[in-house]
Amino acid sequence: MAEPKSGSFTIAADGVDPNTVPKRILYTGTKMPAIGLGTFGSDRFSGEQIAEAVLGAASVGYRHFDCASVYGNEHLIGHSLRTLLKSGLYRDEIWVTSKLWNDKHGEKDVSAACEKSLKDLQLDYLNLYLVHWPFPNYHAPGCDVASRSPDAKPYIHENFMKTWRRMEKLVDRGLVRHIGTSNMTVPKLKLLLRDARLKPACNEMELHPHFQQPDLFKFVLDNGIQPIGFCPIGSPTRPDRDRTETDTVDIQDPVIVGIARRLGVHPAVVCVKWAVQCGQIPIPFSIYRNEYLSNLQGTVSPPLTGEDMKAIAGIDRNCRLIKGQVFLWKDGQSWEDLWDPGGRITPP
Ligand SMILES: NC(=O)c1ccc[n+]([C@@H]2O[C@H](COP(=O)([O-])OP(=O)(O)OC[C@H]3O[C@@H](n4cnc5c(N)ncnc54)[C@H](OP(=O)(O)O)[C@@H]3O)[C@@H](O)[C@H]2O)c1
Repeated sequence: MAEPKSGSFTIAADGVDPNTVPKRILYTGTKMPAIGLGTFGSDRFSGEQIAEAVLGAASVGYRHFDCASVYGNEHLIGHSLRTLLKSGLYRDEIWVTSKLWNDKHGEKDVSAACEKSLKDLQLDYLNLYLVHWPFPNYHAPGCDVASRSPDAKPYIHENFMKTWRRMEKLVDRGLVRHIGTSNMTVPKLKLLLRDARLKPACNEMELHPHFQQPDLFKFVLDNGIQPIGFCPIGSPTRPDRDRTETDTVDIQDPVIVGIARRLGVHPAVVCVKWAVQCGQIPIPFSIYRNEYLSNLQGTVSPPLTGEDMKAIAGIDRNCRLIKGQVFLWKDGQSWEDLWDPGGRITPP
C-alpha cells in the first residue's frame, strides 16, 4: 500500500512540536516518542470518540498511538490514521502499537490476528506488536472479574515460546518492526530473554505513582527493554469491574496534588511528567483536547525538581489496579498468583 505523499501536516497553533517531545531509543536503534495516546475506552467512551481523539491528538503533536484488537476500535482508528496520512503526515512520523489478544496465541492464529489489525488500522506495518497477556485465555470482552474460563491455562513457557516464534516471524516478514510483551513478570521475562531469537523491544506494564514496580522497571531497563507505562494517571475512568475497595487514587495523593497546585496544572499532568522523567513511556488516555494537550505539554515544560521526584518516589502504595482475575486457572487462587510473588513463576 503506497502512502500518499502530500504536503506537510499542520500542527495546531497551541500544539507541541513533535520534534521537541522526548524520545526513547530501542535496542534496534529506532527512536520512539516517549509519550503516546491510549485508546482503550474503558466501556465509557465510544470507538468514534476515540478515533476523533486520535485525529485531535495528532493535530496537537502526538505521534504515538497505543492500540489493541481487544479495544474493538481499530477499524475506526484506521480511518483516522488514513486521514492523517492523506493530510500530510508520513508513515514514518507516527508510531503505532497493536497487541495480540489472549485467544490468538495459537501458532496458526498469530499471523492472522496481526494481519487483521493491520487491515483495520489501514497500515502495511506496525511499529510494535505486543503479546497483550502471557496467558492464553478466552473471556468475553467486558465480562465480570469473577468469570472464569473452563479452558484457562497457567503460564506454560514452552507454549509461550511457540507464540513468540510466530511473533518473530512477523518481524522477518516485515509486518511489524518490533515485538514486545505486556503484563509480564521478571521470572517470565528471564525465560523469554534466554530463549528468544528476537528479544522484546518494549514491555508494557502498569505504572503510576501508586504502583511503581521498581524491580520489574529496573529489570527491563537493565536488559535494554523500554518500559511502556499503562494507567499512568491511575486510570480514574477504568471500568467498574476493575475497581476494588482497597484501590488508592493517585490524582488525590497530597504529594501529587501539592506539586500540581504549585505548577498550576491538573494532578494528571504531574503523573505524566513524573513518568516521562523516570524513563517510562506513558500512554495516557483522554478524549478531551484540553486533557491530552496538557499531558503532551507536560513532557516539554520545565521538569519536576529533584525534590518532587524524591517525594513521588516515596508515595508508592504497591497498588495494582489491573489485577487480571479472569486469568486465574484454578479454584482457591488469588489474583496475586498471576504476578509470580516471590520472583518465582506460580506453578500450575
Ligand atoms: N497492556 C495492557 O494490558 C493495558 C491495560 C490497561 C490500559 N492500557 C493502555 O493504557 C492506556 C491508558 O490507561 P487508562 O486509559 O486505563 O488510564 P489513564 O490513562 O491512567 O487514565 C485515563 C483517564 O484519566 C483522565 N485524564 C487523562 N488526562 C487528564 C488530564 N490532563 N486532566 C485530567 N484528567 C485526565 C481521563 O479521565 P476523564 O475522562 O474523567 O477526564 C481519562 O479517562 C489505555 O487507554 C490503553 O491504551 C494497556
